[in-house]
Amino acid sequence: MRIISLAGSPRIPSRSSALLTLSQRWLQQQNIEVISYTLHDFPAEDLLLGNFNSPSVKTFTAKLATADGLLIATPVYKASFSGALKTLIDLLPERALEHKVVLPLATGGSIGHMLAVDYALKPVLAALKAQEVLQGVFADDSQIILEGEQTTLSDGVAIRLEEALEAFYLALNRRKPSVLKTPLNLLTRQTA
Ligand SMILES: Cc1cc2nc3c(=O)[nH]c(=O)nc-3n(C[C@H](O)[C@H](O)[C@H](O)COP(=O)(O)O)c2cc1C
Repeated sequence: MRIISLAGSPRIPSRSSALLTLSQRWLQQQNIEVISYTLHDFPAEDLLLGNFNSPSVKTFTAKLATADGLLIATPVYKASFSGALKTLIDLLPERALEHKVVLPLATGGSIGHMLAVDYALKPVLAALKAQEVLQGVFADDSQIILEGEQTTLSDGVAIRLEEALEAFYLALNRRKPSVLKTPLNLLTRQTA
């Protein structure tokens, strides 16, 4: 099982990326291969100038095609997900998330914007034909303390993150293509 993780904050250090890093570790402990990307893996010029032939974006798209799921993190910027993340998403093919399970993570300065993933990011993931977008995790800045390499989550966020990761893990396993042993022939069955 393989997933792509994508950090959608343009900033370093980043609270949303810290959530992603903790999630990656958890998934790796369940023997899931994680291919990790940040926006810094793409030339800014390719993203800003909409270079659909960008080699980095093409490689990302190819890796995404081989993955079972996407773990995506973003800060809330101006009541939405980050514009830098949108510049990458705009370069992906229309069906980039077909057959994939997606777990979104977000951080924001105010819980007033905790629904930004639902009203802003989820419709975009649906436009890329994601098979299943799970209930994500939102944390406000006071719930994530960054000290160098160390990240401390409030108890509430730690519990919600673990529950979301368990749901992601189960959904990834559910999505394994089931092979129909006998064809249903629904379209060719003759009526009497
Ligand atoms: C340009 C900018 C716009 C922001 N807009 C919002 C906002 O509309 N709502 C909110 O709750 N937080 C907002 N914030 C706060 C960030 O969402 C918050 O600090 C987040 O944790 C940053 O994530 P990061 O460290 O991964 O970049 C904004 C921050 C910046 C820099």
